[in-house]
Amino acid sequence: MLTTVQEKQQRVRELLAERKAILLAHNYQRAEIQEIADIVGDSLGLSIEAANSDAEVIVFAGVHFMAESVYILAPHKTVILPALQAGCPMANMINPEKLQALRDEYPDYTVVCYVNSSAAVKALSDICCTSGNVLSVVKGIENDKILMVPDKNLAKFAAAHVPEKDIKWFDGFCPTHHRLTAADIRQSKIDHPEAIVVVHPECDPEVTALADHVCSTSGMYSYVEQHSAKQFIIGTESGILFRMRRENPDKEFFLASRKLLCPNMKLTTLDDIIDSLETMSNIVTVPESVRLKAIQSLEKMIAAPRNE
Ligand code: 13P
Ligand code: SF4
Repeated sequence: MLTTVQEKQQRVRELLAERKAILLAHNYQRAEIQEIADIVGDSLGLSIEAANSDAEVIVFAGVHFMAESVYILAPHKTVILPALQAGCPMANMINPEKLQALRDEYPDYTVVCYVNSSAAVKALSDICCTSGNVLSVVKGIENDKILMVPDKNLAKFAAAHVPEKDIKWFDGFCPTHHRLTAADIRQSKIDHPEAIVVVHPECDPEVTALADHVCSTSGMYSYVEQHSAKQFIIGTESGILFRMRRENPDKEFFLASRKLLCPNMKLTTLDDIIDSLETMSNIVTVPESVRLKAIQSLEKMIAAPRNE
């Protein structure tokens, strides 16, 4: 029986080697999983890495839509989501029926779908984006009329940066980022007056308006590393702090609110990874008819450069 974190981490690495598998972890995952992952990254980076990898088995420590995206891009690989119940509440706010109703209402709009969405919703969209490339995706669309789903905050962020486009949006949001308020940021600035404020575009516009910089999770790593400041207030899910602190031991990071915790991103444990690799269970697939449509939106997303 494995009892310590180190024993479990070692067992995961043994099983990964046996199964010719790699472990991908999102930046919000538990520290003990990030520590032993082959790649830790944001939604865009992990999709690209998974699709390009030679590994036959991809273990995805993240949420359901991320594992689906890997399968859509690389259907010959076995994609494992160790905690199969780890979903994204924002992705679940929209479904194909709701999107079809919007398409009927706005027939001449190009649908940009945030990657935090189901495969079926991606299949009904024209192009996907992540927070890491939303601005270049929106700027690159010829049509001036754009409908964004499901995150209204990401859409408002795009609308503010690309005012020449007529952008409409669905009323979805990330419950975790939505809990962060302008009052939290103001209080954090009082507590840490020298600190630079960095937040995710899933935050409410009242919050992003108070930030020095708004970017994806991986964008945050490079921003804080390159910035000469020594203190940062971070407005995204708490899991990001692990690597930030490890990579920047001379800098201090303060979470903008203790409410910034995504329960779904914390569901995956080392035990789940061990169980799923031992039994080769919790495999994610997508029906082929859906996959063939969804891949078109995802490949366009991958081809778009990161935001400047
Ligand atoms: P990124 O890693 O793409 O910034 O995503 C944030 C997020 O909320 C993923 O669920
Ligand atoms: Fe979904 Fe928000 Fe959790 Fe990301 S942080 S998985 S967008 S609920």
